[in-house]
Amino acid sequence: MMPDHLPELAGPDQIAHAADLLRDGGLVAFPTETVYGLGADALNPAAVASVFLIKGRPPTNPLIVHVTGVDMVAPLVRNLPDRAVRLMRAFWPGPLSIVLPKSQLVPDIVTAGGPNVALRCPDHPIALALLFAFGKPLVGPSANTSGRISPTAADHVRQSFTTDQVYTLDGGTCGTGIESTVVSLIGDRTVILRPGVIGSHAISQVLHEDVLDSTITAPINSRQDAPGQLASHYAPHARAILFKDWHDLDGIIDMTDGPVIVLTHSLLAEHNHTRYQLIELSPDPREYAAQLYASLRRADAFNPALIAIHHPPVPGPGETDPESAAIWRAVLDRLSRATAHG
Ligand code: TXA
Ligand code: MG
Repeated sequence: MMPDHLPELAGPDQIAHAADLLRDGGLVAFPTETVYGLGADALNPAAVASVFLIKGRPPTNPLIVHVTGVDMVAPLVRNLPDRAVRLMRAFWPGPLSIVLPKSQLVPDIVTAGGPNVALRCPDHPIALALLFAFGKPLVGPSANTSGRISPTAADHVRQSFTTDQVYTLDGGTCGTGIESTVVSLIGDRTVILRPGVIGSHAISQVLHEDVLDSTITAPINSRQDAPGQLASHYAPHARAILFKDWHDLDGIIDMTDGPVIVLTHSLLAEHNHTRYQLIELSPDPREYAAQLYASLRRADAFNPALIAIHHPPVPGPGETDPESAAIWRAVLDRLSRATAHG
């Protein structure tokens, strides 16, 4: 579907202006391949503090530091293990954030007082141009207020922040659509703290070692080592639930007082679709992930009594390729959090 207006994409002048703002401690929203980030000078504690402030982010939730590539990493970490470099070479620029012991250079506020820092090199020409123009690392949390749906278009950012608060570089729609995989290399283990499109299988193929997905093994409420992975996150304003079976939906609608929006990747032709407003997503996991957040925002804009989201497929072992399985897992992680209060 064509948007009503094509965005005016940021060019060299806007990027140079954005880099100037960052040097003055200002905030710049920038597109990445995953979602829009809220950029600030990672080495300027006052600028980082203003990121926490305008997002309403708990001070216990650390920020990802964005870099131009492996060359910018060395001063930011206490040591750079060979397996970290292997992951950077395999997946950067790309949607993988790597947690390593931080150096003194990284202000404590960036890591929420913790000893480790998450690092990522985004795969987006505007994000990279901004990083090169600024010449230093940038913090880049998703450019939404804390706990809400991440932005996948510049207009989403403008819905959360005024132009006085944040200068936004428009890069159109984000291609990946869900946030980066966060993997910890602390100690000897390799542990996924947040699932993303790069899954445990892809990481273990590069490292030739086992990768633990803590998001599978630990229940959503009981995780200690992934500080920002709160049970409720990515949440629309409307009540939202997951449903597995079309036949369950009728009972849910009967009990709901007001309009219902249904999000699905798989329509059941014989179901009575007149009782709700339907938003269809692609059955392809990559396309689904790219559409997810904009679809949740669209659903929320109807101000419905309920958003009912069709549970994504749960492929059995060997039923699908590992990449698709990883994306559906990451999608389910986001949907579980978006519906945690449902
Ligand atoms: O794709 C992305 O990662 C986007 C784009 C803009 O780059 N950024 C993003 O940032 O999603 P944010 O702040 O919304 O999510 C960062 C996640 C949180 O779950 C946080 O707890 C975790 O990364 N994280 C950051 N630093 C960490 C650290 N030192 N140790 C463990 N987890 C960390
Ligand atoms: Mg976020």
